[in-house]
Amino acid sequence: MHAATKPPQVIAIYPGSFDPITNGHLDLIVRGCRLFDKFIVAILRNENKQPLFSVEERMEMLREVVSCYANVEVDSFEGLLVDYAGRKGATVLLRGIRAISDYEYELQMALMNRRLRPDIETVFMMASEAHSFISSRLVKEVFGLGGNIDGLVPPSVEARLRKRLGRS
Ligand code: PNS
Repeated sequence: MHAATKPPQVIAIYPGSFDPITNGHLDLIVRGCRLFDKFIVAILRNENKQPLFSVEERMEMLREVVSCYANVEVDSFEGLLVDYAGRKGATVLLRGIRAISDYEYELQMALMNRRLRPDIETVFMMASEAHSFISSRLVKEVFGLGGNIDGLVPPSVEARLRKRLGRS
């Protein structure tokens, strides 16, 4: 069922793995939080994935970098994203698109989520050109192999990566 009018408070969820948060994610958070009354960055709790950082560590890293944005919250969720969004009173799911290669997966998810909850809209934002090649997976791989990741993640995240991957 579609609500005929805009809710008085528009709450958006920005879901993901954030293992770890990159400057690409951060750019989307900074641009996205200007558009909505409340902006919840939500980390999926998924036992099947083998993350580098625990959900608690990822939440801490996120909180460190978003604490200056008053309408941004950091949370985690289990189960279906649309059920979580419903519990939070959110009407928007925000996702970033970097390149055409992201589109197919994002389209599938958006259509499935719409089928499950037609009242919750997926909104896409294009990554800035400067961030369009950054992914958490590549950051971890490059850093783990001794490469330079300056400017790809916030300094606090680089420090955590350094500690976790044993690089001085
Ligand atoms: O950062 P990611 O790994 O691309 O994020 C994927 C995420 C967390 C958005 C997606 O896996 C998700 O929503 N999972 C929750 C379970 C769910 O609702 N699955 C159906 C999606 S159509």
